[in-house]
Amino acid sequence: MYVCVCNAVTDSDIRKAVDEGVRNMKQLRRTTGCSNACGSCSEDAAEVLQQALAVKRESLVLIPVMQPA
Ligand code: FES
Repeated sequence: MYVCVCNAVTDSDIRKAVDEGVRNMKQLRRTTGCSNACGSCSEDAAEVLQQALAVKRESLVLIPVMQPA
């Protein structure tokens, strides 16, 4: 679905940007152009970004650290 009509940025584009290292709206604007024209998409873009970041955090695998004996 299109999140930013002005720059044809979809929710998939935002999730892909997160996979490639985007972590905030400033980075999202710079890498995708999302929300850098009329700005009416900024709330929706921020919500999709936060959801994508939450999924990314949940997918991190924690590896236990071995303590020396
Ligand atoms: S809809 Fe995203 S900048 Fe206009």
